[in-house]
This record gives sequence, C-alpha cells and structure tokens, in this order.
Amino acid sequence: MCGIVGYIGFQNAAEVILEGLRRLEYRGYDSAGIAIAGRDSIQVVRSVGKLQNLSAKLQECPLMGNMGIGHTRWATHGEPSERNAHPHLDCTRQIVVIHNGIVENYRALKQELINQGHVFQSETDSEVIVHLLEEMWRGQSEQDLISVTAQALTRLEGAHAILIMSSLFPNFLLAARLGNAGGIAIGRGEHEMYCASDIPAILPHTREMVFLETGEIARIDSSGYQCFSLTGGPVTKETFRIPWDPVSAARGHYTHFMQKEIYEQPEFLTDTLRNRLNFENSEIVLEQFPFSDQALNALEKITIVACGTSYYAGLVGKYLIEELARIPVEVDYASEFRYRQPLIGPESMIVAISQSGETVDTLAAIDEARQKQALLSAIVNVPGSQISRICTGLIFMHAGPEIGVASTKAFSCTLVDLFLLGFYLGQKRGTLAQERRTALLEQLIRLPKLVSDVLELDSAIKELAAQYYEASDFLYLGRGINYPIALEGAHKLKEISYIHAEGCPAGEMKHGINALIDRHLPVVTIATHDRLYHKMLSNIQQVHARDAIIIALVSQGESEISKFARHVLELPDLGHLLNPILNVVPLQLLAYYIALKRGCDIDQPRNLAKSVTVE
Ligand code: G6P
Repeated sequence: MCGIVGYIGFQNAAEVILEGLRRLEYRGYDSAGIAIAGRDSIQVVRSVGKLQNLSAKLQECPLMGNMGIGHTRWATHGEPSERNAHPHLDCTRQIVVIHNGIVENYRALKQELINQGHVFQSETDSEVIVHLLEEMWRGQSEQDLISVTAQALTRLEGAHAILIMSSLFPNFLLAARLGNAGGIAIGRGEHEMYCASDIPAILPHTREMVFLETGEIARIDSSGYQCFSLTGGPVTKETFRIPWDPVSAARGHYTHFMQKEIYEQPEFLTDTLRNRLNFENSEIVLEQFPFSDQALNALEKITIVACGTSYYAGLVGKYLIEELARIPVEVDYASEFRYRQPLIGPESMIVAISQSGETVDTLAAIDEARQKQALLSAIVNVPGSQISRICTGLIFMHAGPEIGVASTKAFSCTLVDLFLLGFYLGQKRGTLAQERRTALLEQLIRLPKLVSDVLELDSAIKELAAQYYEASDFLYLGRGINYPIALEGAHKLKEISYIHAEGCPAGEMKHGINALIDRHLPVVTIATHDRLYHKMLSNIQQVHARDAIIIALVSQGESEISKFARHVLELPDLGHLLNPILNVVPLQLLAYYIALKRGCDIDQPRNLAKSVTVE
C-alpha cells in the first residue's frame, strides 16, 4: 500500500520525510522517492527496493530545502522501477506529484495529453495527473490555482489521495482527496506543517491533526492550511487531538476499529488488485500460485473450507468460480469437513480461506486435504501465518491488519481474491473469451471507487439504525450470489449487536421463514440488478403482503421496489459478479450503527475472539 508524506517548515525536509516514510514501511512497497523544492527548481531522487537504497542515494547527493513530498510505491500500472517510482514531474520539471489510487481513465487522458505534446517518462497511471496540471495551470494566476486544480482533479476517474508541489508556487503544498484511496492527515507544528497518508508517519512531530474528506483540497504553508471543497468554497475543518496511547492513535479519528476498517475498504481493495491485472492481454497474474497449466486443466473439483465470515465469502466464491471457470465448487465449514469423510483427492484443489491464517479448524481441514493429496491453496491475510506456510498456492488478501473482531475489509478483499481466482482458472482453462476478460477487468478496476460511493450512504444508514435498533429479530433475504451476502449481513448484526438475525434465500421463505414475518420484523432485501431481480421483486411483494418493514438494497434508478419497500438504499451497478462486494458495505454499516445505538462493545463483542486457535 503506497505511503505519502509531505513537509513544509524550517527543518531539512528530506530528513523529515524519509523518517516519516520509514514509519510507513509496514504498509509494504517496492520503490520510493522524494522531491524537494529548491530555490527555483525541484529536485527528485527515486530508487527501487527498500528505503535504505533511497537513503544511500540521498547521502551521495543530499537534497537541501524546507519543503518536500515523499512516497513509497506499491506498483499497480508498470513494473517496480526507478522511472515508475513517484514523485512524477511534468515536462517543464516545475510541477511534481505523488499519488495513491488508480486513475481509471488514465489511458484516455494519457492519449489526450500525448496529442497535446506531453512526453511521458513512466508507465504509471499517476503521471497523467502532473501533465494534466501542467496543461491546465498554463497561463493561470495563483489566485485561480485552487479552482483550476479542482477542475483538473475532477477529470480523474477513481479514488485518489494526491500531494502536489511546484516551483511556480514555492511557498505551499497542495493536498487533495477524491474518494477513499487512503486518507490525508494534516498535522500542525510550530511554524511547520506535516501531511501524510497515515497518522504514524507524523505522530512523533504533532498530535493536532485534521483529516481531508473526499472532495476536499488543502493549501498548506508553514503557518497553517486552508481547506476548500473541490466544487468551490472554503471548508471549516474540525481539529482532532490524537491521544498518546498507540491503540487510540492507530484508530485515528474513527470511534471504533470496525468503523475504520469499513472505511478503509476502497484503499485495501486497490491493494488487492495491485500488480494482478494485466490490461495488455486481459489476464490476471497470481504471483504465488505455482500450479502448472496441466494440473489446473486436470482439476475436477474445488473445495473451499473456512469458518465464520470467511465461510460466507467462500459461498460467494462458489458462484464466482463456477461461473468464471466452469468447475464444480463445494463449500464446507472447516469444522465439519474432516468429520464427514470428504471425497477429495489429487484431482481436487482445496481453497482454505482465513483472515488470520491461524484458525485451528481450517488448519485441520487443510491437513485432511493434504493427506488425500489434493492441491493445497489458500486465501490469507496475514503473511507468515501457519496457513500461508503450509499451502503451495497463495492469494493474499492485502487487507492490512484487521483489529475489529467482526471481519469487514478482509471479507471484501477475499471476494476480490475469489473473483481473481475464478478469472485465473477461467483464463487457464479457456472458459473466458478475451472480450469477456477485457470487460471484466474494466469492471474490476472501477470497484474501489464505487465502494467509496456506497460509503456515502453512511448517514442514511445511521438514521435507519436509529429507527430499528430495538428490534429483537432481523431477516435478510437474497438470491443467487447475493444469498451469501444476506447470510453475512445477518452474521455481522448478530456478532456485534446481539440481535437475533437470519439470512435466507428469498425463494425458500415459503417453506418456513414466512411463519416468522409480521409487521414488527425488519426485513433487509438485496435486490440489485441481476438475472434474479424479477424473482426477488416478487419475493419482496410477498413480504410486503405480510406487512413487514422492508429495507431494500436496489440498483440506482430502480423504481418498482420502492412501491413495496419502506426504505430504499440505492447502489451503483457493477455487474452481477461484483455487485455483492458493493452490497455488503451497507449491511456492515447497518450492523455497526445498530450496535453503536445499543451501546455494545463493537470491536470486542462478548464471547468472540478474532483468532480462534482452539477446536
Ligand atoms: C473468528 C472471528 C471471525 C472470523 C472467523 C474465521 O470467529 O471472530 O471474525 O470470521 O474466526 O477466522 P479466519 O481468521 O480463519 O478468517
């Protein structure tokens, strides 16, 4: 995950920035760079690999100056190399940019800028930003700088966190945030200001911080900052005092880790996609999946084993892999698997899913599969965990540390990994034509930004929670690939609010659940656009006929369901295979706000543990 640090003040900026980047090393990176504003030019030093390489270069040719920006990069577009490392300069070498996120429309913008005469130095998507600024700033006065920059940035599709520096305006930095590609914290010192993607980078210097929200841009000089909305006008920001203890510091301005982790999803979904999408030949690259094409082609079955939230992710995986790769998939609770004499052998692949990589039942299920000579693979979050050491094929979640016991970001990152796995197997087994692969990759790259859009439902969901937090039961309904999302929605609510909740395939209601429905029951229905939409609509009518309180998740522009639902939450449509990742987000927020209203211990719910290492 890329890291960003900026400084303006009286100290040697390169030293402050390098030290800040060191504190972000835990995020992972493959190259790094620093730009310092000199008297009338900008100097840039970049290097591949660890920060010690950058530090060695800086010792050889020190950068002097009191204002600068630095970046640790984790490659998405273009290999990890010095020329692809940030910061990126414009053609005149007067503007420099560092960036977190993915410019979804970079190919079109790059072509446009090349046609205008710009020369690109890297293969990155990020470089279009600096050329775009060069183009749009031309002939503008400092007075119009913010509005022109805002115009330029709103041309970027996707979610972004950006720092901009220029020798044209040598007394300030610009920081902007669009969507949730990671935050930007601005910290105040005495005659100096700091900014960073993560609080720990600047915490030793300052505890007074403000956080840019999406759609905001800040002008930061050594005495303070001014914040503006990208759509115009100044914005007044609340200053947070970050407490001393490391746990609260890591939680930042969020009330709970779970809330933070829900909000981090766009950023970590971007990390999950990094380096894995090859747009040139519309393929997925899985870096640690060393099975031969022959072995993958010979597969007759896939068995997914997991516990808890990872199990529900596995159920979504069944739909994804069966549709993309046309291989039969069974999904088992890891705690059940080894006790049922499973039919598994060398023609099968086991896919263990585990956030922690330490869950004892999942480990035992893998062992069972190992004894029966199945191919062993896993989707894991924690590198170095037991499961990651045992399995041959690994797909990391890249969800970052998950602290809240109720899993959120690990769930959505797992769904992406399962999609990648299905796609990869489909590409190897010839079940996905090139055209379909291209279309799917185009959808996939839009995912982080759309999750960020879904998070804007926050206040609507908070209001819903305030209305229904006293309910004693909830029902969640979905069909097809959204049935497991209904299960996960119910699971989240149970875990943290202690309300009884059930998830049910909507077509099954008439075989039992209907008996529970009355006018007091909140029923959450997932009815976004897919081929089962009309079936879902008629299920919703049946619930409506029994007077229940319907809270419906629908696709934007939907008008039919609002005739029956008491509340409607509109979501973007990213196609039936990726919509589940968008759909789970409002359910996470609903559980969170209901538990908050009920005064529950959200991050550490009673009787539950984050990592279950006993049977
Ligand atoms: C525990 C946690 C759950 C988690 C489950 C599986 O029950 O409370 O949040 O889903 O374990 O954990 P794993 O680390 O294997 O995904």
